[in-house]
Amino acid sequence: MNLPSKSRSSPSIPQAGDLEHEFGEPIPGRILPPEQWAKTALKKVPCGVLDWESLFGRRSPIVIDIGCGNGRSTLGSAIMKPDCDHLGVDILPVVIRYATRRGNQRGLSNIRFAVIGGRELLAEHVAAGSVAEMHIYHPQPFYDPAQIYRRLITPEFLTLAHRALVPGGKLFLQTDHPGYWAYMRSVVPCFFDLSELNGPWPDTPRGRTRREIIARRHGLPIFRGEAIRRDEISIDDALRLANSLPPPTFNADRRLRKLDEIEARS
Ligand SMILES: C[S@@+](CC[C@H](N)C(=O)[O-])C[C@H]1O[C@@H](n2cnc3c(N)ncnc32)[C@H](O)[C@@H]1O
Repeated sequence: MNLPSKSRSSPSIPQAGDLEHEFGEPIPGRILPPEQWAKTALKKVPCGVLDWESLFGRRSPIVIDIGCGNGRSTLGSAIMKPDCDHLGVDILPVVIRYATRRGNQRGLSNIRFAVIGGRELLAEHVAAGSVAEMHIYHPQPFYDPAQIYRRLITPEFLTLAHRALVPGGKLFLQTDHPGYWAYMRSVVPCFFDLSELNGPWPDTPRGRTRREIIARRHGLPIFRGEAIRRDEISIDDALRLANSLPPPTFNADRRLRKLDEIEARS
């Protein structure tokens, strides 16, 4: 029996060869035929430190994307850097489901996605000196004063990031929140050599992540930087430093809350 052509080419069911879009911007990579799909879900982060080599079946530089949302930036990096292995994490299961489906359908065996908080990941599951790059795009500002303690970038978190990175390893930070950026600029240089990066990413000028695309469309400034690990700082120095630095109690700009609501609805 011939299927009606409508059910074979329904626009809601992605077909092999399709390029998916979000806000009119292509999501990196094309959908492959099912026999070429990968398995990118790390359904349960095992207890203890992750063994990268057994996770990916090879020894390669490790890239971590913390708060990866729907995975756009992780997918793009995995395609651009096939010789690196990637771990994208987020606390929200629903966004990790999207990210995982996209990674699977693109056959990206150099990615795993997991539901876990960034702090917990670094403190409990990442060996010291084992990560080449860490990316954090638009960490949530948490506007409600009762939630401020949940802000990701803290002196303690920077200590953990410093510990996780290889010598000379890089931390990429990006936000559209002026208060968060001012805070990052004040504390990140204690652990890293921070260079601010101006202008859009050359490879993704309209936005590397979903949030960046939305922010740019609303005319918000994007602040970003590349922070190179200061290798002269020991773990003990970093811990001492962390105790002397202020927590991220900057005032969240309530006008930006509206954008978060738009983003959640989109
Ligand atoms: C504003 S969104 C940005 C998502 C994505 N990076 C982007 O730029 O489109 C912030 C993301 O961080 C996640 N998140 C919040 N706190 C986190 C934490 N402690 N660890 C990992 N992810 C977290 C949220 O669930 C959300 O997906």
